[in-house]
Amino acid sequence: MKLPPTVKTPNWLLYYQLNNNPIGLMDAIYQRYGDIYTVMSGYTPSYTPIVYVSNPSGIKQIVSNTREIIAPSLYGEDSAITVGKIGKQGILHIGGLVHKHRRSILMKSYHGERMLACGRRICELTEKIISQQAIGKTFIASEIISKITLQVAIEVVIGLREGERYEKIKSLYTSCNKYEKSPLFQLIVDLPFTQLDLGKLSPWGYHKYLLKEIFQFLYNEVQERRKQGDSSRTDMLCDLIFACDETGKPLSDEEVRDLLFFPILASREASVHSLTWCLYWVHRFRDVRDRLLEEIDRLGGNPDPMSIVALPYLSAVCNESLRISPSPIFMMPRVVDSPIEIMDYKLASGTVLIGNIYLTHQREDLYPNPKQFKPERFLEKKFSPYEFMPFGGGARSCIAGSFALFQMKLMLATILSNYRLALANKRPERQKHYEDQCYAKSGVKMVMHGRRKHQGHSQPLVSSLF
Ligand code: HEM
Repeated sequence: MKLPPTVKTPNWLLYYQLNNNPIGLMDAIYQRYGDIYTVMSGYTPSYTPIVYVSNPSGIKQIVSNTREIIAPSLYGEDSAITVGKIGKQGILHIGGLVHKHRRSILMKSYHGERMLACGRRICELTEKIISQQAIGKTFIASEIISKITLQVAIEVVIGLREGERYEKIKSLYTSCNKYEKSPLFQLIVDLPFTQLDLGKLSPWGYHKYLLKEIFQFLYNEVQERRKQGDSSRTDMLCDLIFACDETGKPLSDEEVRDLLFFPILASREASVHSLTWCLYWVHRFRDVRDRLLEEIDRLGGNPDPMSIVALPYLSAVCNESLRISPSPIFMMPRVVDSPIEIMDYKLASGTVLIGNIYLTHQREDLYPNPKQFKPERFLEKKFSPYEFMPFGGGARSCIAGSFALFQMKLMLATILSNYRLALANKRPERQKHYEDQCYAKSGVKMVMHGRRKHQGHSQPLVSSLF
């Protein structure tokens, strides 16, 4: 067996560089090792080789070879997103046929008519939340976007729109997300020996407390809905309650609770980072913004969401932003089940394989001048799913990829066509990496300059629109 070249940097340093300068690290690795390289995880003799691939033919094998490569569950017993036994039946904790089956239930909420029905609501929520920004004041784009995506997610997943329960779950996810981003929590994650649950007042215990509260909330919702027995609702909770497992038995309340957790969480992560990057790129280049506005304005006032999402330049802008700044820069790990050959390397069973989304999107042979933000490339050429893959591919591909793109286009078009925003800083944005997500370090600071009318006329923002 012959492994691809092994990265020489010690793992602790790699980890540090990945979190603090992910793009610099990836670019340097590519320069030195090329489009397939190995990182050794653990210690000799019980190390595991992790092979990262950014070559489209290698990526194709990783996502389409289901005979020799498996897509295992991602989290083990002591995952940070579980509390005791709670959370272990979530989509990231399960594998094999059970995973395939549960995935298909969750996906119903993000496709077809369900997705289309959300269009108007996404535009309304975007307008409502962005209109609350004071004129002339700086705001952090990612914070505003996360308010919108969280609200959309709560509606899609548990069907709550307003009221006490809605406010409660919104505030729990918000607190959990804020805490996870705090320097204190990031320190605890880096120092496993500090991860002691000494009750709600201890740093690790507080995180567990928040998770427990979220899971308890979701559990109560499941029980309440079971009691109601209404199968006509169109949210994920309803789909799960009335679904059967592979043996024909209904899913248990605990299982439904665990499956509901991640889809709401995901809306706070990749969706937020992706749209934040997109706002950043669009406001960095005036010509891109002008061309985009021209295209959106041609639809007239109050356009139908379906005509917005079909706009070619808007699609190209969103794709280019997902290409140049993918939020998960890696696909989820797959594992070699029986020996295979990838790009002339013979890999043994147990080798971990990871598709490197960022480096694939940076290939000069696919994307000339890859550091340049150039939406036109998506108008000039069609890329294969192994060349452009912001949502991964195969057995663990994103369950909400189409929905996330749909939401991204509607939010961007609503914001741009109705408001005049500007970046607060001229400096290029720096990246950070944490828990599989690459995001803008500052969250992108922006200034609200007022409301905009079509054809470039603008008027002051009316803050009491809703
Ligand atoms: C622009 C926004 C998003 C991006 C760029 C994104 C990207 C990704 C990527 C790269 C993966 C790994 C794919 C692989 O390994 O092949 C993934 C998995 C996943 N994503 Fe997303 N995602 C986004 C939004 C969302 C949203 C809104 C949800 C809400 C349900 C979601 C749910 C998931 C789930 C559940 C998985 C794991 C699927 C599995 O284990 O079977 N994602 N996503």
